[in-house]
Amino acid sequence: MNTYITTPIFYVNAQPHLGHAYTTIVADTYSRYKRLCGDNVRFQTGTDEHGEKIIQAAEDAGVSPKEYVDKISGLFREAWPVLTIEPDVFIRTTDADHIQTVQAILQKVYDQGDIYFDEYSGLYCKGCERFLTEKELVDDKCPDHLTLPKEIREQNYFFRMGNYQEWLIDHIKKNPDFITPERYRNEVLSFLKEPLEDLCISRPTSRVTWGIPFPFDDRFVTYVWFDALINYLTGIGYPDGEEFEKYWQVAEHVIAKDILKPHAIYWPTMLKAMGLEPYRKLHVHGYWKIGETKMSKSLGNVVRPVEMAERFGVDAVRYFLLRDMSFGLDSGYTPEAVVARQNADLANDLGNLFSRSLTMVKKFAGGKVPEPGDPQEIDNQLADAAQEMMAAYQREMNDFSFHKALQAIWALISKANKYIVSTEPWELAKDPANRQRLDTVFYHLLEALRLIALTVQPVMPHTAEKMFDALNLKNDGDLAELGQWGLLQPGLEVKRIKSLFPRLDLEELKKQADSQKPATHKKSQKKEETELISFDDFKKLDLRVGEIVAAEKVKKSDRLLKLTVKSPEERIIVAGIAEHFTPEDVIGRQVIIVANLKPVKLMGVVSHGMVLAARDGDNLMLTGVSGSVTPGSKIS
Ligand code: MSP
Repeated sequence: MNTYITTPIFYVNAQPHLGHAYTTIVADTYSRYKRLCGDNVRFQTGTDEHGEKIIQAAEDAGVSPKEYVDKISGLFREAWPVLTIEPDVFIRTTDADHIQTVQAILQKVYDQGDIYFDEYSGLYCKGCERFLTEKELVDDKCPDHLTLPKEIREQNYFFRMGNYQEWLIDHIKKNPDFITPERYRNEVLSFLKEPLEDLCISRPTSRVTWGIPFPFDDRFVTYVWFDALINYLTGIGYPDGEEFEKYWQVAEHVIAKDILKPHAIYWPTMLKAMGLEPYRKLHVHGYWKIGETKMSKSLGNVVRPVEMAERFGVDAVRYFLLRDMSFGLDSGYTPEAVVARQNADLANDLGNLFSRSLTMVKKFAGGKVPEPGDPQEIDNQLADAAQEMMAAYQREMNDFSFHKALQAIWALISKANKYIVSTEPWELAKDPANRQRLDTVFYHLLEALRLIALTVQPVMPHTAEKMFDALNLKNDGDLAELGQWGLLQPGLEVKRIKSLFPRLDLEELKKQADSQKPATHKKSQKKEETELISFDDFKKLDLRVGEIVAAEKVKKSDRLLKLTVKSPEERIIVAGIAEHFTPEDVIGRQVIIVANLKPVKLMGVVSHGMVLAARDGDNLMLTGVSGSVTPGSKIS
């Protein structure tokens, strides 16, 4: 069997964040699962690099569009291996073969009469990079960007999307799995109740230059969506070639609900016009929020996946994201939720099961898989539970219900932990007459561990590797074969395992968050991502010279000093510098402060700003100016 799984290609006007990482971890997990099932898998991701927004972002950063897209695309490409995401193909819409494919498709669809030239006037939203219909507006504004769209009259090329409306409705109705979960299928069908307008697929070069030139009219470039969707074909070598033959018929796309319309309406109709079969499945997930709040740059609450991985560990992040989100619905991220999952599910349930089982086998069975005797009822129950888990796991993984697949594994983990409590191997070990019973118990336990290692592997590859290593097994083979009960060979030597996951301290984590310091992880200090900001962003900062006139330790905190800073008025600033400076060290010093930060309460003291310092390895140096200046002087 073949599997072709894709993520959206991400816009390069933002750096990789938690949402991008989730989609890409989903696709990676699915591709690992399908490989485990013995499939030939092709997993593709990449970056979407054309359009007005990119030009704007490049201008803001003061670099050429090419330099800009190279940099941000690189950040996506580099982020994925950190999260153990291993795509087979990373495509960029500025790649020469993609440009060629888009132009060939435009020409083909034009030649057959499905693209026409027309004058159009409409309400254009720059943020959406498209014309909006009256119906979409809320209080005359774009509901996503809260801006008034501009009335634009211009000539453009249009794709006869409307011609394919009936065909599309019919296709969706006949193929219940075409768009899943069902709520999104229903959403698309309800949208298709209204007449489908043709799609404007060009942008005049007078307005937009950063795009793929129209092959038959150089006054126009291609609309970003018409360009971007085609990446799914370019990546497998369309129009010819072995890969295309092999993979297009099994294409599955993963997206979030924000880009349902282009994927569920534009794309299948485009494919139909090209004379191709539509993709096989569209998997649509919900949104990650930060707690209850939308994640957004302007709110300053964007979560970076690489930092998450450094803070909690890669496997814990992958597990958390797949376990906490019901595929299709929205979910909220908080560090507390990750810690809770890590401590309960990973360190406690899974980690303890492995470490105590292997420790007992080492201690009471010479560290070898024993030969089992006749099973008792309780042993058969564990074996049955493992087989039920295998069936549920495969059903849910095939269905993209990752949280349910993980629940099924954890139900077995819990049964195995209870099995230990009920069979009491340490008691059996006291009497040599129980040897065979003890061996039977250990065999069942180890066999359950093997199946757990096998099934967590797509989600937590590193952890599975440690488990396989401890069980002295090779991590290869087919799920259908390896998923059977009773394959473990007696006599095989097993190893003890150090704790698979550390327990995290929520209080410690909160303290770190309170003092606005990244988690104490060496790597997080090693390399910091530099986000490009505009001059306007920089101008928002009110940097001043402040003179520290008083300082004292904040009660019950090892890290915080309460500083009275003259700048020129006196203000209280709480700074996380107590591990490096005593109050006496800093009194009388002139430092650079951020004077217009919103006040925050740290350990009960309200802080009105921030003192800037340089971190060099474990050292911290306060910033200042050379020579003495009037407190409150602006830094510009
Ligand atoms: N470039 C287009 C996609 C073209 S595909 C042919 C685009 N790019 S994007 O950078 O905006 O990425 C959107 C996708 O990022 C979503 O569909 C989803 O996969 C992911 N996410 C972005 N924010 C997200 C959340 N807050 N939560 C979950 N996923 C989110 O649209």
